[in-house]
Amino acid sequence: MTDLSEIIKYVKNNLSEKRFIHTVGVAETAKDLALHYGENPLFAEMAGFLHDIAKEYTLEQMRELAKDLKVDETILNSKALMHAVAGACLAKKLFDIPEEVFNACLYHTAGRENMTTLEKIVFVADMIEPSRDFSGLDSIKALSKTDLDKAVLTSLNSTLMHLIKTGKKIHYPSVKTRNYLLT
Ligand SMILES: [Fe+2]
Ligand SMILES: [Fe+2]
Repeated sequence: MTDLSEIIKYVKNNLSEKRFIHTVGVAETAKDLALHYGENPLFAEMAGFLHDIAKEYTLEQMRELAKDLKVDETILNSKALMHAVAGACLAKKLFDIPEEVFNACLYHTAGRENMTTLEKIVFVADMIEPSRDFSGLDSIKALSKTDLDKAVLTSLNSTLMHLIKTGKKIHYPSVKTRNYLLT
C-alpha cells in the first residue's frame, strides 16, 4: 500500500489551493468519524485525500480515466457524478490503494445501495468538513456522530433540494441511494 505521505504530496502539487483545503478537511473529518465508528482511520484519511483528485479534469478526461470500468450512462453524462468515478480510477492508477478506499472514492457523490460504513463516512465527511457552509449543516454534523445513515440521507436531501431550487438536473443514482435509505 502506498504511503499516505506520498499521496498527500501528489494532492498538494496537483490540486488548486481551494480544493486542497477542502481535501484536507475531508481527510481529517473522515479520520475522526472512522475513529468514532471503529473503522480503519488510515483508510478513511486516504480516501479523504483522494476523493476529488479528478475534479478539475474535463468530462472527456474523466471518461478516459474510467474507460475500463462499467459505468452507468447517467453517470457518464454528468461531470458532477463522473468526477468520483474518475477520481477512484486515477487513484488506483497512480497508487497502490486498498479496494475499500477505491470504493469510498467511487461512491462519494451519489452513494449506492447498501453502502459500507467507510463509504458513508467519506460521503458525510465531504459534506461537513470545516470549510463547508450551508443551511442544515449543523444538523448533518450532529447526525454524523449519532446516526450515520440518517446523516447520509439528510446530506442527499440537502444536495437534491439545492439542485431542484437552482434548476439543475438531479440524477437517478443519487435518488436510488436516497430511496434505499428510506426503505
Ligand atoms: Fe467530490
Ligand atoms: Fe469533495
